Amino acid sequence: MKHYRDAAENAARAAGDLLRTAFHMPRRVNSAEAHDIKLAIDVETQELITRLLLEEFPQHSLYGEEGITGDQSSEHQWVVDPLDGTVNFFYGIPHFCVSIALRWKNEIIVGVIYDPVRDELWTGQKGEAPTLNGTPFRVSDRADLAEAVISVGLSKTGETIRSGLPLLQEMAHRARKCRLLGSAALDMAYVACGRLDAYIEQGISLWDIAAGWILIETAGGVVDMKPRTDMKDRYSVIASNGVVNLGLK
Ligand code: IPD
Repeated sequence: MKHYRDAAENAARAAGDLLRTAFHMPRRVNSAEAHDIKLAIDVETQELITRLLLEEFPQHSLYGEEGITGDQSSEHQWVVDPLDGTVNFFYGIPHFCVSIALRWKNEIIVGVIYDPVRDELWTGQKGEAPTLNGTPFRVSDRADLAEAVISVGLSKTGETIRSGLPLLQEMAHRARKCRLLGSAALDMAYVACGRLDAYIEQGISLWDIAAGWILIETAGGVVDMKPRTDMKDRYSVIASNGVVNLGLK
C-alpha cells in the first residue's frame, strides 16, 4: 500500500504548490451561488492530481468535486477534493487544503490532507498509525463536552443551514467553543490530531471527508456517516475522538 500512499502525498504536495502560488494571484470565478463559489483553480488543480495519479495507475478511476475520470466501477477509485475551502481561498482566508483518498472495494484505505499555507501534511493508511509531517498522532481524550471544542459546518444550501443552525446553537451553549472554519477536510484532520474534539455537518460530499475518515479511524476516533435521504450523494457526518459525549442521536 506504500506506493499508493507515496503517490497520494506527491500529488497532494504538487497540488498544494499550485494553490499556494495561485493564492497570491487574481482568482477566476467559474460560477457563484448564494453560499458557494466555483473557481477555475479548482478545476486546474483536479486536472493536475488526475494526471499525476492516473498516469501512475492507469487502471484506477477518480471521483472528484470537479468531475469523474475513468471507469467508476474500477476496484480502485481516488476520491479527491482538489481545493477544500474554496470560499476561504477566494476571500483570501489562508485556511484551505487538498484532500486525496483511495477507495478500494468501497473501503477507504489511504488518506492524505495537505494544508499548503502551513505546510502540514496528514497521512493515513489502513492498519497503520497516521502521521502529521512524519510524526504519529492520536485523537484527543476529552470526554466532557463542556471542555470540548467542536467544529460545526453549515454546508451550502438553505436546507442545510436551516437544519444546522439549531445544532450549532445547542453546541455553542454546551461546548467550551464552537467553530465554523470553512474547510471540512481540515476539520477532519484537526479532529484526527486532537486540535478539535468533534466535527459535525449535515450535507457533506464524500470527497470532503474521505481522506479525513481514515485519518480519524486510525487515530482512534469515530466517524459516523449517514446518507441524506433528501439530497443526492450528500451525507450527515459526526466525527469525533470517540469519547466526547455529544448527546446527539
Ligand atoms: C466545502 C467546505 C465547507 C463545508 C462545505 C463543503 P469546498 O467544500 O468543506 O467547510 O461546509 O460543506 O462543501 O466547496 O470548499 O470544496
